[in-house]
Amino acid sequence: MLIGLLWVLFQGTAGAEDVIDTSDWGAVITLPVGLDAEEFFVPADNSLSKAKVELGRSLFFDVRLSYDNTISCATCHAPQFAFTDKRRVSIGINSQIGGRSAPAIINRGFSQEQFWDGRAESLEAQAIGPMTNPIEMGMPSHEFVVHKVAGIEGYRKWFKSVFDRDVQIDDIGRAIASFERTLVSGNSPLDKYLAGEEGAISESAKRGFELFDGKARCTQCHSGALFTDETYHNLGIDWDGTEVDLGRYLVTGRADDIGAFKTPTLREIALTAPYMHDGSLATLEDTIEFYDQGGIANPFLDVEMARPSGGLEMMLEMFEDKGNTDDSSQSPETAKMTDLEKLNLTSQERADLVSFLKALSGQGWQHIEPPKSYPQ
Ligand code: HEC
Ligand code: HEC
Repeated sequence: MLIGLLWVLFQGTAGAEDVIDTSDWGAVITLPVGLDAEEFFVPADNSLSKAKVELGRSLFFDVRLSYDNTISCATCHAPQFAFTDKRRVSIGINSQIGGRSAPAIINRGFSQEQFWDGRAESLEAQAIGPMTNPIEMGMPSHEFVVHKVAGIEGYRKWFKSVFDRDVQIDDIGRAIASFERTLVSGNSPLDKYLAGEEGAISESAKRGFELFDGKARCTQCHSGALFTDETYHNLGIDWDGTEVDLGRYLVTGRADDIGAFKTPTLREIALTAPYMHDGSLATLEDTIEFYDQGGIANPFLDVEMARPSGGLEMMLEMFEDKGNTDDSSQSPETAKMTDLEKLNLTSQERADLVSFLKALSGQGWQHIEPPKSYPQ
């Protein structure tokens, strides 16, 4: 019965019996069980091919894409850590410290918008960003990147054979994006359980699954095969500190995007600590504790977190009220605003949710290694 219900909830999730047709993709990717081929996105002007993916792999691991030959994409997205860096925030060229945590680069082919704030509209557009970011790879311009890559004879020939033209920045992006599309994760214990293998997850994880969609309300935002709604929410992360990252607002300029960040996938979550856009939560237990408290109060807290609520308008009104009243802490409206909707989880329930999250570690990316040698 339960499994039946979960099937409805995770509609679109492929079962073991589904045959995923990947013939259009040049037989480059085999999607593991649990991922939805229908949701996988390959742009019309960047068809997948083995040769392109190989070129992208070389570029992804090549430190020569940075100004001083010290940093590659893999410096911050390392295969041994499910393509993140295990740091709170990333460290780039000349040991410069960034402002956000590096997301795990897995299952990216299922998402359109990239970055915590979704400012890149495609994987291709994203891939060329870090090279000229002064605190990541530190290249002065994309022309400079093209000049440097084209100055390496092996790459010049390789680009010619894959794209049939001289090195261009967009083709560098296309090759890297193609490689990234091959970093997938599925066939986790949960996927096996959903496909009918009753013993694939522990009893604790089964209870955690029920809580995830029930009392703990996680599926409000972490839904579908990747456990994300691919939209943006304000949970209040950093609103208890001195500096606030405005997140999605910096992209859209819309008030209801203030402090909102993209719901991240939860696949491989056990391997990708620390958590949240600022890496402020060290463990899964800390993360559950955070949600149990209802997030961190702020005037823009997502309605999904701060319920029951009159929505954004009411919150904005209250925010203004707060500015105008001398003793705002006493006003009933303000009290309502900062009243977080706690989940009241028992310690067993918290442990069950953690067991569930640990059942999302799967397969599909572990075989990736840096190239043995690079073009000269
Ligand atoms: C210095 C560390 C660093 C380097 C080098 C780096 N990244 Fe990142 N990457 C990050 C951080 C931090 C973020 C999140 C930034 C944000 O969202 O504003 C990120 C975000 C991303 C994302 C978005 C993922 C998502 O879930 O939205 C992709 C894809 C990505 N990087 C790929 C690359 C590629 C490809 C390269 C090499 C060309 C690269 N990165 C180089 C640190 C780095
Ligand atoms: C209102 C939408 C929403 C709800 C409800 C929600 N999440 Fe999240 N989750 C997010 C967003 C957005 C982030 C990133 C927030 C940030 O960094 O500012 C996130 C981050 C996370 C992370 C860290 C991911 C990473 O890669 O750093 C975990 C783990 C997580 N959520 C688990 C859960 C669990 C478990 C629940 C239920 C108890 C839950 N979430 C409920 C939206 C939500």
